[in-house]
This record gives sequence, C-alpha cells and structure tokens, in this order.
Amino acid sequence: MNNKFYVTTPIYYVNDIPHIGHAYTTIAADVLSRYNRLLGKDVFFLTGTDEHGQKVEKAAVEKGRSPKEHSDLMVENFKTLWTKLNISNDAFIRTTDKEHIKTVQGLLQRLLDKGEIEKRSYSGWYCTPDERFWTEKDLVEGNCPDCGRPVEQIHEENYFFLMSKYQERLIKHIDDNPNYILPETRRNEVLGFLKHNTLGDLCISRPKQRLSWGIPLPFDDNFVTYVWFDALVNYFSATRYLTPNAKNTTPIPLPDKGGSEGGLGWWPANHHLVGKDILTTHAVYWSTMLMALNLPLPGNIFAHGWWTVEGKKMSKSVGNVVAPHDMVDRYGTDAFRYFLFREVPFGLDGDFSEDALVRRINTDLANDLGNLLSRFQTMAEKFLDGIIDTILPNISPGDDQRPFVNALSNAHNPENWSQLQFNLILEHIWNIIREANNLIARSEPWKLAKTDPERLKGVMFDIWNALRLSAVSLYPFMPDTCARIWKQIGLNNLIDEVRQSLIQKLPEDTDKYPKAFAWEWIPSYTIKISKGEQLFPRIEKKEVHAEKTPEPVKKEETNLIPITDFAKVELKIGIVVSAERVQKSNKLIKLIVDTGEQRQIVAGIGKAYSPEDLIGKKIVVVTNLQPAKLMGVESNGMLLAATGSDGVPVVLVPEKDVEVGSRIK
Ligand code: MSP
Repeated sequence: MNNKFYVTTPIYYVNDIPHIGHAYTTIAADVLSRYNRLLGKDVFFLTGTDEHGQKVEKAAVEKGRSPKEHSDLMVENFKTLWTKLNISNDAFIRTTDKEHIKTVQGLLQRLLDKGEIEKRSYSGWYCTPDERFWTEKDLVEGNCPDCGRPVEQIHEENYFFLMSKYQERLIKHIDDNPNYILPETRRNEVLGFLKHNTLGDLCISRPKQRLSWGIPLPFDDNFVTYVWFDALVNYFSATRYLTPNAKNTTPIPLPDKGGSEGGLGWWPANHHLVGKDILTTHAVYWSTMLMALNLPLPGNIFAHGWWTVEGKKMSKSVGNVVAPHDMVDRYGTDAFRYFLFREVPFGLDGDFSEDALVRRINTDLANDLGNLLSRFQTMAEKFLDGIIDTILPNISPGDDQRPFVNALSNAHNPENWSQLQFNLILEHIWNIIREANNLIARSEPWKLAKTDPERLKGVMFDIWNALRLSAVSLYPFMPDTCARIWKQIGLNNLIDEVRQSLIQKLPEDTDKYPKAFAWEWIPSYTIKISKGEQLFPRIEKKEVHAEKTPEPVKKEETNLIPITDFAKVELKIGIVVSAERVQKSNKLIKLIVDTGEQRQIVAGIGKAYSPEDLIGKKIVVVTNLQPAKLMGVESNGMLLAATGSDGVPVVLVPEKDVEVGSRIK
C-alpha cells in the first residue's frame, strides 16, 4: 500500500507581505499534513516562494539590491509567519534554488527534444505589470482585462509549448477523475471552459532584454522562461532534492522514460491547494505540461475561495489587509486557525471580521469546549478525587454512547477528508463536544454523587472519553491546544500515544483509523485529573452589533395568480451540506445547501430541528429570491416547509431520490 502523502501550497510571490490569503492555504495544508501523520502516513508537506519575474526585479532595483539579495530578505517574512502559525512544513522551496533551476531546464530541454516546444513569431498585447500577453478580443476598452492598466503591442519571437494538442486528453482526465478538480463547482467551470473553447498554445519564454531575472532557456540563451513554467515545476523539482530521501546537493536525475515505472520518488502529489484565481494555471497549464512530459498527474487540485474583509475586497489601497501576525498576537494561533476553517466551507468565499472571530472564540472555544473541560475537571476532583475509572466492566459503546461514536466516525470519514470538507469535519467534532455538555445537563453528576456513585463513574468516563476524542480529532486544526487538553485530562503525550496506538488491536478492528481515534481505546495507566489553566478565556470585545431583524413582509390578500407568475419562482432540489445555529437565535439555522451550486440559506426551523438533523437531507429550495439578512446573516434563498398541526415547521423533502439541482416545475 502506498503510505505516502504529499501536499503542496502555492509558492508565494516573495515580494508580497503575507496576508490572510497566504495563511489560509498554508494552514489548510498543515491540517491535512498533521491529520495524515496521525494516520501513520509518511508526509511530505511543501511550501515556498516564487522569486523570479519583473516585479521582484523592479522592487530590488528600487531598494538598491540585487534580486537575489532582495529575495533573501523578503523570504523571511514567510518563514517567520509559518513558525508563528505552527506550520509543520517538511520543506521550503525557493525558485532560486540551483537544483530547482536545473530541473526546470532539464524539463524544458526534454520538451524541446520531444517536439513539444516550437519557436514562433508572435504579436500580442502585453501588460507589463501583470507580465502577460492578451489577445485583442481579451482587452477591455483597450486595457488589461485583469488590472485595467494600459497594454502595449509587442512583436517578437518566442517559444511556445504546444498545449493545444492536450485539450481532449485533459477533458477526459477530468471527466474520468471526479476528484481531480475540487470543489465540484470549480471542476464544472474548468470543464465548461475546456469543452466550449479552443485551447491555444502557451508562450513560455520572455526575451532577455525585456526580462533578465528568470531561468535561461537551456537551448537559447537570449530568452528566460515564463514565470509560471518555472513556478509550477516547483512541485516536481522539490521531489528531486528536498524530500527526506533525496540528496541535498544534486537533484535526483529525471526519470528516463517518464511514466510511472520507478524513479519518481514522491511524485505525484496527492493535493495541490490553490486559491480560485490560480486554478487555470494549475488545472490547464500544469496538467498539460505533465502530460507532455509523460509524468503522472496529481491526485487533486483544490481551489479554495477568497476572503473579503467586512464585506469589502481586501486591498492595500483600502487599507483593510488582514495581517495574520496581528490576529495571532491578539487572539492566539489556534483560535485563528480554527476560525478560518469553521466559519466558511473550504472552497467558498468567506468574509472575515474580528467580531465574527471573537464570537467563535467566545461560543465555540470558551463556552462549548473550554467550559466542558473545566467543569469536567472540577467534578472529577470534587466527586472522584481526580481518578477516572477506565477499567469499567464494559467500555464498548452502548446506546448512551452511540451519538459520540456516530459523530466520531463522521469526523473521520475518509470521504470528508479527501474532499477537504473541513467545516463539516469540525461540525461533527463539535457534535461530540455538544453531546458531552448535554450528558452533563441530563445526568446531573452532582446528584449522582449522592445517589448513584457507580453510574457517576460511568458518566465521568464518558465525558473524559469525549474530551479525549475531541482533542485527538481537533489536533490537526489546533495542535497546541489539543496537546494541552490531552495532558489536562491525565494523558501523557498525544502524538506518541496516537503513534503507539497505530499498532494496537481492538475488538472489531476495522483498521481504518489509529486506535486512539476509537471509543474503546484506553491508556494502560491510571488517569488522575487535576485542574489546569483555562484554555480560552472569554474575550470582551467592542459591542458586537446585532443587526435588526427585517420587518415582516405584509401579507398580501389571497389572490389567484396566473401560471406565468408561478413560473417566475425557481424551485430546485438541494442537499444540506452543513448546518449550524445562528448566534443568539433559537429559531434560525444557517445552512449551506448544494443546489448545483453551493448557497447559504437561513431558515427559521431551529425550534423543530437541530442542525445535525438537517445535514445530508434533500430539500426544496427557492433559488431566485433576492438575498436578505436575518440577524445579520445573509440568506440566498428559502427552503420550503409546511406548518404542522402543532404549529411547528416540517421541512418538505422529495418522496423519491432525485438528483441535486433538479428543477421543480
Ligand atoms: N506565485 C503564484 C503562485 C504560483 S504556484 C505554482 C501566486 N503567488 S501569490 O503570492 O499571489 O499567492 C497568492 C495565493 O494567495 C493564491 O493562492 C491566492 O488565491 C491566495 N490569495 C490571495 N488573496 C486572497 C484572499 N483575499 N483570500 C484567500 N486567498 C487569497 O499566485
């Protein structure tokens, strides 16, 4: 079995000051890496910097430095931030590494030899700041369609990668491999683009007189290679010299024939994580480059969404760039890491605000998780002298434990992990925490201490176990906090114990997870609890302004309507992907529903349904309603529900299984 797991982030432009967008992808890769290490995999987690190109050259000149000196200074901004965010990358690649340069040149030569590269004269419109060509029809009022700045017409000779001939093969690959591009909406976009447009060839060189800060073409010294050709190759070149078994000085020679017959080491990657803006370069350029090189394609390219800040696009000129350093200084690394993946499904755009972050800290972290731990510790000390009985007559889960076990198996469902459904995974982990809090409320241990000491031991064991399983499951997201929880509930060292548990056997062993992820795992030593420091003190923050609930719409007189009016309403079948309660409301539930595209809906069904009841349900959704805000949360649509005889809402579901996105007519 292949035990390797290789994940990458984009390599970031060395000129940029790291912001929330850079942190987002890098933490996502860290979460995946840490999780896979827990599963016992050999992980290679790569990040790095993209250092060639005009912008770096220009910035260096302005500072009176050489481009390399400039890069050497700037790269530290990223390295320091990764340490602060507790990023566990195994390697850091820089495109100025000599081994990388050699690999890029080796691959270019190979493509030329195979007849995949051709020299052509070329004329096009060039946007200097963006370093890219546009065709006449791309231009918007004569300017660059991307940045709006003026373009200049350039005639020159250049080298082209014959990308167009791979169009059909690429379509087939994406069609045959549903997980190749995720999320599905992005996959459909790429497929739509490829099926309805003719792919051109890719200009991969720049004349040296226009750009000197780049990798020279090995077969023509008058040119350097296009930055993206250099940058994308990093994912492969790192496997030649930065992986644990590669030599540090000379790159492993390129495999002779390509293909999968050995010599490829860590290639291909399991996941390339990228932002949605750079999906095309990865899904189209990189995939076809690999095809032409006869190298295997990565397992998955995942395009995540973009963060806006309090509703606005993040930009230096607006002055609203979120600096991860500041967030960590104010709120701590783990709270920031948690927030990014809890607040918004990975793949969708999200809005960042400190109010939202503080709300998450106070409700999820301080209230749900922090309080659970401290109440547990207090009760353990008070009622059991700190000793948790782990040698109960029967620890295999019964009916009382079923909710814990179910939530646990959802949180570790390989499907959720391979699709990077981080917020869903966190929702399932939170079900463990909520269930433990419910158990305290239901069983009232302070009464059991007087009436039923045996049952008290059982309940306290369940709470202990729920805390243990929350800690181990949350570890990839909040590594420090979870290692501390683990110790605070009387255990030794989280990582060591998970590792040891990989070889342990339990009854009905499924071999799916490390045994430390199972309800039945218990340590071989006595568990003694003593109260530790508070994990997440509540944060008092400037007023969190609750928006006014909109005025109820006045009821129209009942009237007959023509069918054409009814036809204006677009109704579709959707599936609930995630659900959670809207803060401070016992009626509203915020849902992410997939109706062929993912949308957020707020529904007033919270008194009749809990969020867990709704996840996975197929429902009927009005998809063409104007957006509305309910308690400050945006709703893009409405689900259909009937009013039951007792006045509570009953959600309408299709009577037989129907495909998501089906129109109701
Ligand atoms: N150097 C290229 C990538 C080459 S990969 C072979 C590059 N670098 S970058 O520094 O601009 O990286 C930007 C990354 O940050 C992209 O993945 C981009 O999507 C992400 N983000 C930039 N702004 C963002 C937000 N506002 N929100 C989330 N991510 C954003 O592109």
